[in-house]
Amino acid sequence: MEEARGRMTKDGIRIYETADFEGMRAAGLAAARILDEVAALVAPGVTTGALDDFIRNRVVELGTTSATIGYRGYKHASCISVNHVVCHGIPGDKVLKDGDILNIDVTVILDGWYGDSSRMYVAGALSRKAERLIQVTHDALMIGIEQVRPGNTFGDIGFAIQQFVEGHRMSVVRDFCGHGLGRVFHAPPNVLHYGRKGSGPVLEEGMFFTIEPMVNLGRPETKVLADDWTAVTRDKSLSAQFEHSVGVTAEGCEIFTLSPADRFHPTWG
Ligand code: MF3
Ligand code: CO
Ligand code: CO
Repeated sequence: MEEARGRMTKDGIRIYETADFEGMRAAGLAAARILDEVAALVAPGVTTGALDDFIRNRVVELGTTSATIGYRGYKHASCISVNHVVCHGIPGDKVLKDGDILNIDVTVILDGWYGDSSRMYVAGALSRKAERLIQVTHDALMIGIEQVRPGNTFGDIGFAIQQFVEGHRMSVVRDFCGHGLGRVFHAPPNVLHYGRKGSGPVLEEGMFFTIEPMVNLGRPETKVLADDWTAVTRDKSLSAQFEHSVGVTAEGCEIFTLSPADRFHPTWG
């Protein structure tokens, strides 16, 4: 059972206390460090399973726990989503080849606090169209984060992301969303990456949630494969995603999962 902390809004969104930001900061930093470190391993010829093995070990070495191992029967320390895989790709025997783009998503628990983040990586050479997709997806996340401040609504976040992405003639995935987190992995609200200005719950200081837009070069529709996890674009178009865990402050927003090495984007660092 989740222990009672702070209060709950009428939409069922927990309001955490100022002291709780410290726990989220530490958990977020651990997730970000692992995502920084795994970058050195991503290359053509490497399997997604090998990347997950590294992540699983680092989770333990940093004194954290994987939130995904054992979550609804999931067995891995990361989700690794290559090319047209939208999210929840299962690490395994798949060998990366030159030009593949991949999202690696890691969620750790530290002292009961959840840190959830994902980024894009490239095996070998980055094509122009993949580079454009990754840039737009990254910028869409950051434009969504710019809307995070008390008094704005969740709809403002979704609207800003959708406007930006569609302005670049790409599409926002509707079938998956961000989520509240804190002492739990997935909590209210659903953080949509599309929507109308002013719609949805009002943001309040002390809310913790993720923003994690998935952007497709083609159409937005997805389907889940027979393994019950892997979500792919129906039209096989390339897909990208970035995810941060954030907290609403009096001033605006704190990002808990910033890269300590400033490597959040694959062409940085
Ligand atoms: N980390 C993912 C998210 O952003 C959830 C992965 S659940 C798993 O919410 F079981 F697929 F790992
Ligand atoms: Co998430
Ligand atoms: Co995640």
